[in-house]
Amino acid sequence: MLDADAIERLRAEFLALLNGATTDRDLQGVRDRYLARKGGVIAGLMKEVATAAPADRPRLGQLANRLKTEIEEQLAGRRDALAAGRPVAGAVDVTLPGRVPPLGRRHPLTRVRDRMETIFTRLGFTIVEGPEAEDEFHCFDALNMPASHPARDMQDTLYLASGMRGEAWTPTGPRTHEAQAADIRTLLRTHTSSMQVRYMQTHEPPVRIVVPGRVYRRDNPDLTHSPMFHQMEGLLVGEGISLANLKGTLLAFAREMFAPSSRLRFRPSFFPYTEPSAEVDISCWACDGAGCQQCKGTGWLEILGCGMVHPAVFEAVGYDPEKYTGFAWGMGIERVAILRHGVDDIRLFFENDLRFLEQFPV
Ligand code: DAH
Repeated sequence: MLDADAIERLRAEFLALLNGATTDRDLQGVRDRYLARKGGVIAGLMKEVATAAPADRPRLGQLANRLKTEIEEQLAGRRDALAAGRPVAGAVDVTLPGRVPPLGRRHPLTRVRDRMETIFTRLGFTIVEGPEAEDEFHCFDALNMPASHPARDMQDTLYLASGMRGEAWTPTGPRTHEAQAADIRTLLRTHTSSMQVRYMQTHEPPVRIVVPGRVYRRDNPDLTHSPMFHQMEGLLVGEGISLANLKGTLLAFAREMFAPSSRLRFRPSFFPYTEPSAEVDISCWACDGAGCQQCKGTGWLEILGCGMVHPAVFEAVGYDPEKYTGFAWGMGIERVAILRHGVDDIRLFFENDLRFLEQFPV
């Protein structure tokens, strides 16, 4: 029986067919099907209206007429669109660019670390990694930092509860009897220098390594501090190694990493595990040393600490200090990234905010 729903269904059918019509021929087919005088859908509908119950006739007639007008209008609209070559709803527009799925990218710190590793590998260094959970011997004692050294204070270092008195666990396996007897505490390493000790304990000279990795300090996060950050340690030991070798190595690195015109400035400093010790500044590549905002007008940017390995360190690992000399350095990977990319807040590296991360190339 004819009712308003049946007319609505005809309308939906028509729209579906129209949608699929992307050529003049398709369109003619749809027109014939609906508007043909003889056998057309609308013609049939009108006949049914004429035989409907008299009470329903005016309303059904109105709906049927409205559908007929709509069909005529839609067909005309679609014909014009096709003639004008305009894309029509439902048709595939082959000129549209494809949808590009969002691409992930490497973290800026990963990129900087990779670059640093590439440069040092080319200079002949081997990359090694070591445990982040350490013991006091490797982090402090063997590096000529006795128990009274301020860096060992609970205020500065994150000690591990599981490594305290009486515990059997250490990062490298069961605690040795010696460690237990000496009550050596375990901690999160405060610098990658601990790997100098581990490596020299297990390898004979010559040594030529860089050690990238995470380090931890008991700091509150602010613009320049993070309780976890990354360092890259360097260590080279052999016979007849001098300060000149250290300078040459670091200069070669700086020229690759920053700018070919980079210059270095060594300032005397103090570290318990090197003698002499120095802090190294690099000429600001933003202004080439003239003085700008980046270098706060000084022309120099501080990048690392370094020095000639202290004989006490060689003794602690069983190397003959009369025979071998060497140099070491430690630099912050965030520090290099900050200088390289002009980032003004170290916390940005750890917040995983895509607005920050997407500013770096893939
Ligand atoms: N360990 C130092 C730090 O965390 C950096 C450092 C300085 C490492 C001098 C060295 C070195 O190997 O020789 O600040």
